[in-house]
Amino acid sequence: MNIITVIGSGLIGRSWAMVFVSGGYRVKIYDNKPGQAANCINEIQKQMMELQEVGMLRGQLNATQQIALLSSHDDLEQALQGAFFVQECVFEKLDVKQNLFRDVERLVSGDVILSSSTSCLVPSAVFSMVQNRCRCLVSHPVNPPYYVKLVELVPHPDTMTATVDKTHALMTKVGQVPVRLRKEIDGFALNRVQAAIIAESWRLVQDGIISVQDIDLVMSEGLGMRYAFIGPMETMHLNAPEGLGDYLKRYGDGFQRVLRSFGPVPDFSAEDAKNVVSEMNELIPNDEQNLSARRERRDHLLMGLSRLKKDK
Ligand SMILES: NC(=O)c1ccc[n+]([C@@H]2O[C@H](COP(=O)([O-])OP(=O)(O)OC[C@H]3O[C@@H](n4cnc5c(N)ncnc54)[C@H](O)[C@@H]3O)[C@@H](O)[C@H]2O)c1
Repeated sequence: MNIITVIGSGLIGRSWAMVFVSGGYRVKIYDNKPGQAANCINEIQKQMMELQEVGMLRGQLNATQQIALLSSHDDLEQALQGAFFVQECVFEKLDVKQNLFRDVERLVSGDVILSSSTSCLVPSAVFSMVQNRCRCLVSHPVNPPYYVKLVELVPHPDTMTATVDKTHALMTKVGQVPVRLRKEIDGFALNRVQAAIIAESWRLVQDGIISVQDIDLVMSEGLGMRYAFIGPMETMHLNAPEGLGDYLKRYGDGFQRVLRSFGPVPDFSAEDAKNVVSEMNELIPNDEQNLSARRERRDHLLMGLSRLKKDK
């Protein structure tokens, strides 16, 4: 019972494979693009050696031991043999995922957990072609999962509690931080909160209240400073002498007044949205070189933050 199959070996499949081997599991990687799964292992090998050098490799095993737990497969049936857990990471296209899970179900026994990495599709859509859906759920990671450990566990209406419990235990064992949604909802929790932040930030820039650069500072130097360690609920609880109830008495009316002043859903395709895009492009030009440098900076900073959180 120690084999996990990862299907799809792009950005997210590669990260999941690294996370699972860090927990000591054998990981069989399958991709329908020939040679892609083998390339993925080469990439992981390079990355793990670098992580080991800077002391950021996760888990108890060294890089060579972790790499030895990986195998690549161009045949789905072979990749699924012996697995107790399947993590799907293929393109974010409903029919691709539906057909894949239909095929996978035919090749595994009824107790194998089928888990999807989808960001935007609800489980009842993803698993509509699976017969036995009590062992299906979404395990939605955050990019890059190696440093950002949250995983949203989202059940299908037919999912058994035991499926979520076992997945929760697995995710915890490999060092991720799982949270449970009690039922499915479009956007899950993370992207709903993210959408609210994006909407209000966008409106403030588009209405000429604040610049693109400054709204990002509101987050990175303001709210984000504490949100890396405590969430909005605890923030409120700590910000009044007698906790949350007290906070609501003091500030509840003010927040409701502000909330009522929020505008409609922004139109990202509107003519004046182009101004927001050009303001951003002036700050960080949208060519490959500049974007890659900023992504590298982001990942480096996240690595430092995740080291700091380890000691908290
Ligand atoms: N990239 C992110 O930030 C992010 C974050 C969270 C969740 N996700 C989700 O993870 C999933 C994968 O995203 P990604 O960014 O890794 O995509 P990607 O394009 O980098 O990789 C997808 C891989 O799946 C393979 N593939 C496609 N169809 C397949 C099939 N039928 N069988 C086997 N392999 C197949 C492709 O060859 C490719 O290697 C998506 O559902 C996405 O929504 C992505």
